[in-house]
Amino acid sequence: MTITIVGSQLGDEGKGRVVDLYGESADVVARYQGGDNAGHTVVEGGNEYKLSLVPSGAVRGKVGVLGNGCVINPDTLFDEIDTLRERGLDPDVRLARRAHVILPYHRVLDGIEEDAKSDSDRKVGTTGRGIGPTYEDKAGRRGIRVGDLLDSELLREKLEYVVPQKRALAENVFGVSMSDTIGGSSDGVEIGEAFDIDALHEQYERYGERLQEEDMTVESGEFLASRLDAGDEVIFEGAQGTLIDIDHGNYPYVTSSNPTAGGAATGTGLSPGVVGDGDIIGIVKAYLTRVGSGPLPTELGGVVGDTPDYDEQGAGENEDLAGYIREEGGEYGTVTGRPRRVGWLDMPMLRHAARTSGFTGLAVNHVDVLAGLDEVKVGYSYDVDGEEIFTIPATTERWGRCEPNLRSFDGWPEVDWSEVADEGYEAIPENARTYLEYISDELDAPIYAVGIGPSREDTVVIEHPFE
Ligand code: IMP
Repeated sequence: MTITIVGSQLGDEGKGRVVDLYGESADVVARYQGGDNAGHTVVEGGNEYKLSLVPSGAVRGKVGVLGNGCVINPDTLFDEIDTLRERGLDPDVRLARRAHVILPYHRVLDGIEEDAKSDSDRKVGTTGRGIGPTYEDKAGRRGIRVGDLLDSELLREKLEYVVPQKRALAENVFGVSMSDTIGGSSDGVEIGEAFDIDALHEQYERYGERLQEEDMTVESGEFLASRLDAGDEVIFEGAQGTLIDIDHGNYPYVTSSNPTAGGAATGTGLSPGVVGDGDIIGIVKAYLTRVGSGPLPTELGGVVGDTPDYDEQGAGENEDLAGYIREEGGEYGTVTGRPRRVGWLDMPMLRHAARTSGFTGLAVNHVDVLAGLDEVKVGYSYDVDGEEIFTIPATTERWGRCEPNLRSFDGWPEVDWSEVADEGYEAIPENARTYLEYISDELDAPIYAVGIGPSREDTVVIEHPFE
C-alpha cells in the first residue's frame, strides 16, 4: 500500500504534518523530487528538528529514501544526519544512485542568475540552494549523480568536463570575478573555490566514501519495489506544490521538478500503476500563501519587494487581514525566513491540482488560523479578457490578469481546538465544516484529515489509508 502526498497550492500547505500523521504506520518514507529547498519542522518527544533534506520519517525510526528525482546536496545531508545523531537519533537514510548531486557551483550560479534578473519581473525568488542549475545539468546530460561519487576516477573525469563550462558561464556570460566573495558574504569565501576542480574532487570523493562506508546508496526503484513486495507501507512525500511544478505550475516562477503525483513514479523508479493503486492525498491550506514572485489573484496584501508587477495584484486592500493571518499562521519561510504573501483559497488553482494529480483524498490544514474572522472568502472563478474561467490559465501573464470572483462563507469562532481534536469531525464548528465540505464537493474528493493546530496531535483524522 502506498500514499502519495502532494501539495495542491504553492508549497507550505503543511505536507509534513500529514506525512508525520500517516507516517506513524509507514515503514518507508520516500521523497521523489526537490532537494534542500524544502523545509520541514518535526516535533518528536518534545524536541524540535528542522530538516530540509532528510525525510521527516527518519526522525521517527522509518527508512527515509531520497529517490532518483531528487537533487542532493551532501553538505546539507550529512549536516542534518550528524545533527540528528548528536541529538541521540539514528536516522536510516538511503540515496538513489541515480539522483543528481548539487555542487557548490550550482548554488553560486543560482545566486548569480537571480542577481542578474533582480531589476526585472523575471526574478524567481529561488531559495538559492542551487536547485535549478542542478536540474539544468541533469537535463543537459552533464550532471553528476550520487553513483558517480562512488567512483573517484569517473568523478574526476566528469568534473573536468563540466566545471570549466560552469566557470566560463559565470565569468563570460554573467561577468563575475572568481575573486569576489560568494553572495557578497563577509566570511570571505571566494567564488573561485566553487569552481576549483581539485578541491571539489577531494571533497566529493570524501562524501562518496562516507556514503559507501555507511551503505547509504540504493537503486531506488528496486529497493522500494522489494519493500512493497515484502508488505511494507510506503509514503511518497512530495515537496513544494502543484503551482510551482515545472510543467504544471506558473512558469517561470516555479521550482525545477515535478511535485505533482506523476513525479512520484518518475522520481522513485516505480510505475504509475503502483502510485495510482494507492491513495493520492492533496494537501490544502485553508487559505493561500506564496513565497517568492508570481501572480496571486486572491492576494490579500503583498509583501512588497519581490516582483513589482504581480505584487500589485491584490496588495493594499487588505494589508491588515493579510498581516493577521500571517502572524496567526506563522507564515514565514522555514528555509529562508521570508514572510509569505497571503491570499484567500483559490478554487481554480485547486481544480487544476486535483485534475493533475488525481486526488483520492484531501487534508485541509490551518483551519484554526481563520477562526474568529467574520467571513472567509474563496476565489470561486476568474474573470479574464472578458470571460469567466474555472481553472488556471496556461500562461503566467494571463493568470496575472485574472480577477477573482469571490464567494463568502460565514466565519467560525475560536474554540478549544485540542478538545475538537479529541472529539472528532463533528466537533469542528459548523461553519468550518460547511467550508470544508464545499472544498470536498468542488474537488470531488473526501476529506481525510483536518489540521486545527500546529502539532501533529492537533489533527482530526477522518480516514487513515494504512489502517
Ligand atoms: P527553487 O526551488 O529554490 O529553485 O525556487 C523556485 C521557486 O520555488 C521559488 O519561488 C521558491 O520560493 C519556491 N519554493 C521552493 N521550495 C519551496 C518550498 O518548500 N515552499 C514554498 N516555495 C518553495
